[in-house]
Amino acid sequence: MIPDSFVQELLSRVDIVDVVERHITLKKAGANYQACCPFHSEKTPSFTVSPSKQFYHCFGCGAHGSAIGFVMQYAGLGFVEAVEDLAGHLGLAVPQEVSTRSQEKAKQQPLTERMGQAARFYKEQLKASPKAIEYLKGRGLTGEIAARYGLGYAPDEWQGLQRVFEDYAGPALAECGLVIDSDQGRRYDRFRDRIMFPILDQRSNVIGFGGRVLGAGEPKYLNSPETVLFHKGEELYGLPQARKEIQQQNMVLVVEGYMDVVGLAQNGVQNVVATLGTAATGANIRRLIRLADRVVFCFDRDSAGDRAARRAMEVSLEHLVDGKSIEILQLDGTQDPDEFVREHGRDAFVKQTQNATRLSDFLVRKLVQESNPHTAEGRAKLVNEAKPLLQKIAAPILRVQITKEIAKHAQLSQSEVEAQCGLKPLVRNRFAPPPSRVHPSPNALERILLLTVLRRPERAARLPLDLISTESPEGAALLAVAEAIDQVALPAGNLGLLMEHFRGSPHADLIAGLASQAEREAEDEGEQEEVFLDAIGRLHQLSLQRQVDVLTAQARAGTLSTAERQTLASLLARKKA
Ligand code: UTP
Ligand code: MN
Repeated sequence: MIPDSFVQELLSRVDIVDVVERHITLKKAGANYQACCPFHSEKTPSFTVSPSKQFYHCFGCGAHGSAIGFVMQYAGLGFVEAVEDLAGHLGLAVPQEVSTRSQEKAKQQPLTERMGQAARFYKEQLKASPKAIEYLKGRGLTGEIAARYGLGYAPDEWQGLQRVFEDYAGPALAECGLVIDSDQGRRYDRFRDRIMFPILDQRSNVIGFGGRVLGAGEPKYLNSPETVLFHKGEELYGLPQARKEIQQQNMVLVVEGYMDVVGLAQNGVQNVVATLGTAATGANIRRLIRLADRVVFCFDRDSAGDRAARRAMEVSLEHLVDGKSIEILQLDGTQDPDEFVREHGRDAFVKQTQNATRLSDFLVRKLVQESNPHTAEGRAKLVNEAKPLLQKIAAPILRVQITKEIAKHAQLSQSEVEAQCGLKPLVRNRFAPPPSRVHPSPNALERILLLTVLRRPERAARLPLDLISTESPEGAALLAVAEAIDQVALPAGNLGLLMEHFRGSPHADLIAGLASQAEREAEDEGEQEEVFLDAIGRLHQLSLQRQVDVLTAQARAGTLSTAERQTLASLLARKKA
């Protein structure tokens, strides 16, 4: 964990304008800066950076956040990596003693070095092995692509790695998963007589290998075991090589196998990665939707591929956010992506990706296929099968869309499906229009207050905290923000800092969404103040009304004490005033 205090220090020293300008050119426009948005394609600039608020925001696609958020989104980095990146530019060291990550890294360093050495060895061995070269050529690969993916060959020897490692017998190679100790205590190389695919992490360090037999043989692929370096469920094969193209196309293609990645790259499709082992994990999905707005899964058309598609769909539902598109591509025919692109070429493949099915459509189609909505029983089955899936969906707009579709097939109304599936309302979407000011419900008032406070944090001190209920997400967030503003003492309304304070908290999305709205709809100061005071006034009125209701009910039941009767009278008098 990086301590909050360090993140605050970092954000008060970093200037978001500098950070953004490292990657794109900004133009001054009034108090802010502008550019064409790097996160969606556009011709006229709607991406703005506010130096006073230390916040960026795109009017076009809604992207927004702090300097840290920008680096995460732009470079596809995780929070820790983004903090490290920014700290590096300022010459600040991310605190060591609390950063278990960097302690872990120090321990990993010697292992990472050995993995790199092994990869270099396998690469040299490939050059020296005509039969391995023949195999790769036979699969249509050129030396250029083999080099780009660092392909190698593990020689057909029991202790080939002994030639590179003086400490072959020591603990490090076992920790790397490069050797196996037999029951008889004999140590030998895990990978022998195999084409080697090095698996890289974000920094292009080798953390694992996949090894393929040259012809037929079992197992076809042998993979590194889980080690301190290598966590299969989190990594994506081919990411460092694909990163640039993913960014450029704002689309990432996810396939099942090493050979699919390499084969597609060979044929000019470079924005492609593979999950390791067939199923996509939550960590994979979160990573993928940070990388691009469109994530297209392309699974093999066999039973393993079907299972993988189903699993990817389920996991995606939990992690999908509105504004991102997850799609499933089933290639015509029975070929896998590598075979397809080799036979039909790049253009035919790209054409297929344009016809990928959106997750929502895929899901509805699958559910309808599996039930039989032409009968009443089938329609009931449809709703039953849909229930656990609908419950998983975290993205509000998407859930409404899918629910509507299901309702149509089930011959029910949307609200009937929602009721039968026990769907609770999700937090308002961040891009939804602001609630009308005519008859606001209490949480709408709290929303308005939050919005006006985010526009001008000094207002927090004037909030009637005792009237704000934590029952609605808006109320809870408002109280949390008021408390944070009090604690953090935001320098000059630094919204970026406030948002980072809430990263990972249950209020994060709501606050980020409203902060973005505050930026989008710049109202004049006088009007804002009026809205703020009006909302506080209404909150008082509501609280009065609530007390009056309680006391009136007691009066009807005849349980009102004299003191309470007096209170009621004075409350009614205040209401009239
Ligand atoms: P496939 O069996 O679909 O292989 O496995 P492929 O990608 O088409 O490979 P080629 O074209 O025959 O060389 C897909 C992925 O499943 C994992 C690997 O990650 C592989 O890339 N796998 C498969 C294994 O880990 N072990 C195996 O024995 C087979
Ligand atoms: Mn294949």
